[in-house]
Amino acid sequence: MSRSRWSSRNFNEGRITHPSIHIIMTARIYCFANQKGGVAKTTTAVNLGAYVAATGRRVLLVDTDPQSNATTSLGVNPRTLTTSLYDVLIDGRPVQDALTLTEWMNLDLLPSSTDLAGAEVEMAGVMARERLLARSLAPVAEKYDYIFIDEPPSLGLLTINGLTAATHGVIIPVQCEYLALEGLSLLVNTIRQVREILNEHLKIAGVVLTMYDARTNLGQDVVEEVRRFFPNEVFQTIIPRNVRLSEAPSHGKTILSYAPMSAGAMAYQALAQEFILRAEGVRTDIVSLSQPRA
Ligand SMILES: Nc1ncnc2c1ncn2[C@@H]1O[C@H](COP(=O)(O)OP(=O)(O)O)[C@@H](O)[C@H]1O
Ligand SMILES: [Mg+2]
Repeated sequence: MSRSRWSSRNFNEGRITHPSIHIIMTARIYCFANQKGGVAKTTTAVNLGAYVAATGRRVLLVDTDPQSNATTSLGVNPRTLTTSLYDVLIDGRPVQDALTLTEWMNLDLLPSSTDLAGAEVEMAGVMARERLLARSLAPVAEKYDYIFIDEPPSLGLLTINGLTAATHGVIIPVQCEYLALEGLSLLVNTIRQVREILNEHLKIAGVVLTMYDARTNLGQDVVEEVRRFFPNEVFQTIIPRNVRLSEAPSHGKTILSYAPMSAGAMAYQALAQEFILRAEGVRTDIVSLSQPRA
């Protein structure tokens, strides 16, 4: 047996350790982008985040949309915040000051507020303005297994910041509707440019088909069309149109706590399992290791 094996054995004597425990892990960062509004970027980032957290993984959801939909979906009122993403990006406040707890132990939020609407203009004059978010997240990357960035419905500077920060890729939600693919070539082009100039690791990590209505032929046609366009990226799991998913945000809840037995919840649970299998190569049970905060 080699000397190094012995010394590592001695070092760990009497302790139960996993080999990976000595490796400093940093978060896998994904952003959820599509410049079209209403395609379920926020719904997917929030609910996928909740189910990934329910496996015991530590998840941070970053809301980069001035409309603050992800923030309110997690029961946080942007008007009562003293520190939000704006202060971190524009005023250089430590990101730790803005981290906000949610009702789930393993799910934290970096909230947005309406003043983020002015951020794109204010960022324009800043050096390395495309990397502000990536730099802001670095100090907390070791605290999390996953960081999910929910993007606004545009291809502006906030979205570019998300694409630049995304170490593990972009996930594109696509609504199963007429003209679903419209505009996607523009997004794909933007992704290519960001990869060439700002983030060489950027890839399309997945395409999620959302709001599928099984009663129409159109839905099935769109599914086939999107699968032809993104043959390797589309997740098998399709998110159905489900009224519970649209109700949950107004109660400030994820679907996991609002209606865990609904078809929408089942779909996001299946998507989380498929996502983790793709990201880590492991099968997981959603056992809700993540406890609600008392
Ligand atoms: N699968 C679904 N079934 C029904 N309503 C949905 C579903 N997914 C999203 N919605 C609703 O559609 C609207 C747009 O979704 P949202 O996630 O806010 O899109 P985006 O972030 O892309 O603008 C929201 O009101 C949301 O609650
Ligand atoms: Mg949104």
